[in-house]
Amino acid sequence: MENLNTFANKKAFNPLNTICIVTGGSSGIGLELIKELKSRKAKKVINIDIKNAGQNDIDFFQCDVGNSESVKVVFSEIYKKYENIDLVCCNAGVARDDDGLASEEHWNSVWKTNVLQHVNIVRNCISKMVEKKNGWFLITASAAGLLSQVGSATYSTTKHATVGFAEWLSITYGDSGIGVSLLCPQGVNTPMTKNIKDGGVAGINGMLEASEVAKISLDEMCKGKFLITPHKIVKKYIKIKSEDPDKWIIGMRKLYKKYVN
Ligand SMILES: NC(=O)c1ccc[n+]([C@@H]2O[C@H](COP(=O)([O-])OP(=O)(O)OC[C@H]3O[C@@H](n4cnc5c(N)ncnc54)[C@H](O)[C@@H]3O)[C@@H](O)[C@H]2O)c1
Repeated sequence: MENLNTFANKKAFNPLNTICIVTGGSSGIGLELIKELKSRKAKKVINIDIKNAGQNDIDFFQCDVGNSESVKVVFSEIYKKYENIDLVCCNAGVARDDDGLASEEHWNSVWKTNVLQHVNIVRNCISKMVEKKNGWFLITASAAGLLSQVGSATYSTTKHATVGFAEWLSITYGDSGIGVSLLCPQGVNTPMTKNIKDGGVAGINGMLEASEVAKISLDEMCKGKFLITPHKIVKKYIKIKSEDPDKWIIGMRKLYKKYVN
């Protein structure tokens, strides 16, 4: 049995009777997080997404999480109805193939969804959470945020920024009763990867199902863990990268040649 004292979070997440928000809950990992939270007896699960999947037993807010004003309006609506928000799964994300020629407009759009989403959300609930000494963020980055994503400058960069923000959040608010978990999967079978044969480079160590990733995420949060890597090999890759970054880059170039160039 792992010891809670060795984890960054001072307590474990308990989904029972909680009010939970999932962004990007209309598809893929978000959709499965909603199912997993409901099966673990969360009291209410709210989906915030740009598209409505028509799940009729949950609250839905149509909102672009990269837009700070829209996020402010949605959170103020939610707080009118619920006094506490126990969990926000900042899961919505976009992946685009690109390179050094990607335009400013393209960068801004990926940056807003993949990075400013987390900032916009935290800005609108952290004070209340700290006041109640209760609240948890499950922030979805990717193994690409710890390693890299060959074939996408924006995905590599924004997912690194997400890792940085989640670490900062836990460092800053962990002693104030706030839990943070950071989800970093490799390839997962979802609409995001459905047109890429075998998941491309992200599928190099096998693809997981979104339902497995959701279950592992909740299992790890319920132990109090910060870093969640559903593909176990990711921790080995981090070690290899940190031990010899030059050698790691040379290795990654081989993947670039094989999968992109
Ligand atoms: N699928 C993978 O292989 C994989 C691997 C690692 C990390 N991830 C990350 O997991 C998260 C979920 O990905 P997925 O594979 O389930 O993708 P998906 O495309 O199936 O679902 C993403 C959801 O986010 C919503 N969304 C996108 N932009 C939004 C915005 N601006 N505002 C509100 N909602 C928005 C979409 O409408 C969609 O419902 C993403 O952050 C992704 O980067 C995915």
